[in-house]
Amino acid sequence: MVVKYGVVGVGYFGAELARILKRLDDAEVTVVYDPDNGQKIANELGCDAAASLDELVAREDVDTVVVATPNYLHKEPVIKAAQHGKNVFCEKPIALSYEDCDEMVRACDENRVTFMAGHIMNFFHGVQRAKELINEGVIGKVLYCHSARNGWEDVQPSVSWKKIREKSGGHLYHHIHELDCVQFIMGGMPEAVTMTGGNVAHVGENFGDEDDMLFINAEFSDNRFAVMEWGSAFHWPEHYLLIQGTKGAIKLDMFDAGCTLKVDGKEEHFLLHETKEEDDNRTSIYHGTEMDGAIQYGNPDKIPPLWLQGVMNKEMRYLNELMHGMEPSDEFRPLLTGEAARAAIATADACTKSRFENRKVALSEIIGK
Ligand SMILES: NC(=O)c1ccc[n+]([C@@H]2O[C@H](COP(=O)([O-])OP(=O)(O)OC[C@H]3O[C@@H](n4cnc5c(N)ncnc54)[C@H](O)[C@@H]3O)[C@@H](O)[C@H]2O)c1
Repeated sequence: MVVKYGVVGVGYFGAELARILKRLDDAEVTVVYDPDNGQKIANELGCDAAASLDELVAREDVDTVVVATPNYLHKEPVIKAAQHGKNVFCEKPIALSYEDCDEMVRACDENRVTFMAGHIMNFFHGVQRAKELINEGVIGKVLYCHSARNGWEDVQPSVSWKKIREKSGGHLYHHIHELDCVQFIMGGMPEAVTMTGGNVAHVGENFGDEDDMLFINAEFSDNRFAVMEWGSAFHWPEHYLLIQGTKGAIKLDMFDAGCTLKVDGKEEHFLLHETKEEDDNRTSIYHGTEMDGAIQYGNPDKIPPLWLQGVMNKEMRYLNELMHGMEPSDEFRPLLTGEAARAAIATADACTKSRFENRKVALSEIIGK
């Protein structure tokens, strides 16, 4: 059986997802829709370019819709795809508010379709290994996580939608990966959060309006905590997730790519990606000038780096196997219904409320429980 894909939004990321799907066995990209880049990518892939979203989601030769539009334009294609009974893969963040995520999750649930979120960190070798080690009890009970995704961003040739709060959500929403990963490790949302931050060094017409420094304190049940930070106003760049348990700790270093398990004073190292070559590729890119602030700008002609292609391949292979009937592990189920993605946005919304109302916010204020 060949699964047929329709791809909505074929810019930097969507075009590469479509190329990867086209190369897979038992997968075919039949149609793309993108008002700017659709025809060009359709010519490259040898598929159709739909004239509208409605045309794409109504086609009989589309089983699964892949959504890779800018963040604020995910909701309509996801809901329309679900209403036409199509399975959905949607890039992160799935939406920019808990209410929108909830509508999307419910639409997919009511129409009994898969709603897989593009939370690609779940496919990093290092993240999967860390989860195994935690599940095996190697570091004991996890007490604390600390994530940082910081760099410095210079003036860009133009102001991207990725820098405009209304379109991308800013660093916290656009780079939801770390928050999602922390929630996975902690077994769900925190009970309360506090966020401080501001736009401290990127004000003016050459920049967007997102905060360039964000600091979150998250309080989980049973005396467990997380501190997370993001931003593009840091001249000492860092990108890592540190997991501290009662018996040991794990560091996933995404800057000097590689992972370390520390137990009883002994260190054991494992790869962040699939191969040493991919880890080295990531390290050299992060140490260059291309990834300041850990954000990538591009267009359909820009091919993602080796490490990113590796993990995109893994994610698309997983999606395609799922579409062919593969039974997911219990751990992965919330990723495939939009629930994990919605839970991450619930926390992001609580953080945003905290920052603007200058107070600690309980998650119950967002999710209403
Ligand atoms: N998982 C990751 O690591 C990762 C990396 C990069 C981007 N992304 C996500 O992928 C998505 C796209 O990002 P990008 O970097 O490709 O941005 P991009 O700006 O390069 O591409 C967006 C594309 O969407 C098209 N578009 C705009 N409005 C549209 C509409 N209404 N319908 C259809 N197409 C429309 C644009 O013409 C453009 O080609 C975002 O959600 C982003 O967060 C994920």
